[in-house]
Amino acid sequence: MYRVAIIGVGRGGQGIGGHSIGYIHGRCYKAQGQCEIVAVADISEENLTNFSEEFGVKGRYADYHEMLAETKPDVVSVATYAGLHRPMVEACVEAGVRGIWCEKPFTLTMDDGVAMVEACEKAGVKMIIDHQRRYLHHFREAKRLWKEGVVGSAVQIFANVGAPDMMEWGTHWLDMMYFFMDDRPAQWVLGQARCTGARRAYGHLQEEHAVAYIGFEDGTRGILESIERINGDFAIRLMGTEGYIDCKWDGRLQLLNSEGLREIPVRSGLHTPHKGLDSEDAWLAALQALLDWLEGSPEPEVSARKGLASSELYLAAYESARRRDRIDLSLRGQSEPPLDALAENRP
Ligand SMILES: NC(=O)c1ccc[n+]([C@@H]2O[C@H](COP(=O)([O-])OP(=O)(O)OC[C@H]3O[C@@H](n4cnc5c(N)ncnc54)[C@H](O)[C@@H]3O)[C@@H](O)[C@H]2O)c1
Repeated sequence: MYRVAIIGVGRGGQGIGGHSIGYIHGRCYKAQGQCEIVAVADISEENLTNFSEEFGVKGRYADYHEMLAETKPDVVSVATYAGLHRPMVEACVEAGVRGIWCEKPFTLTMDDGVAMVEACEKAGVKMIIDHQRRYLHHFREAKRLWKEGVVGSAVQIFANVGAPDMMEWGTHWLDMMYFFMDDRPAQWVLGQARCTGARRAYGHLQEEHAVAYIGFEDGTRGILESIERINGDFAIRLMGTEGYIDCKWDGRLQLLNSEGLREIPVRSGLHTPHKGLDSEDAWLAALQALLDWLEGSPEPEVSARKGLASSELYLAAYESARRRDRIDLSLRGQSEPPLDALAENRP
């Protein structure tokens, strides 16, 4: 059995972020069968009590340092906001944890992201980022068709966030771009963002509107726009030279090519498996990938190294707006959140 701990449990829909993603981690640990949640840490006593009672957890801590020192977990979920990840991940590494399941968005700066990945790699700690959508049947089917060439050669991946939020939510779609591109590296990012400082969530600034234009080495382009819905009912459109595949907001997958328009049957939607299946399947798959990695399987699709590459795309888009120039990857030397500088209108 793996001894598991969770940092940041949430309070069932009413927390600051409000998703209480810690509960999803908790249910996955229970469902997986090889994990025992031995302790949880949260700065909210009420959240701690509610979670511990629901999951029958004995170890309850206000301070995660104390929890790590006293309970010595094998695996830790870091289920808090991006700006808190680095000290928490570093504390886990120092405490001798073997595996970390860290929430997205992974990081507010490239320096923090690189430091976390390097600390884990140096200590042999396996860390995954919760870009669990890679495991949804919907996207795996879209990728299979796109790679088979049913819409010709790849031209463009167009993603619409449906909200002014390239980081919290957009990180999933940027990660899907890497998924569709088989994680081959992007070469550059051109970005623009309007950030007045008026919007704040999950402990960080959010823009009012942003665009990332991404160049992949084979000539494929990625475009992500963060704003309320745009025309069309797709969240992601995979464009080819002879048609396109739409990942629709309502969970349908649709294909247009010279044979006409058709629906593609899928077993999941954009976010979760369709009714009838365990609604946490993709999360469970992410957890299983971490445990398999710990048992010697190759690096999974949701590894922190890959999560850092996806995070680099939103960080580079903001940085491009700040520097008024294209960012040729890799992006390095970013020590403060670029949205802070944009909001203050300074270089
Ligand atoms: N992977 C996904 O699809 C997915 C879905 C929802 C949310 N998330 C991400 O999960 C993260 C958490 O979001 P949420 O909506 O669950 O938030 P939440 O507010 O519901 O829960 C966060 C918890 O962290 C606790 N916390 C804050 N500071 C802490 C500290 N210093 N030490 C210990 N605990 C602390 C809070 O008290 C709260 O209980 C966000 O980054 C969000 O983007 C991911």
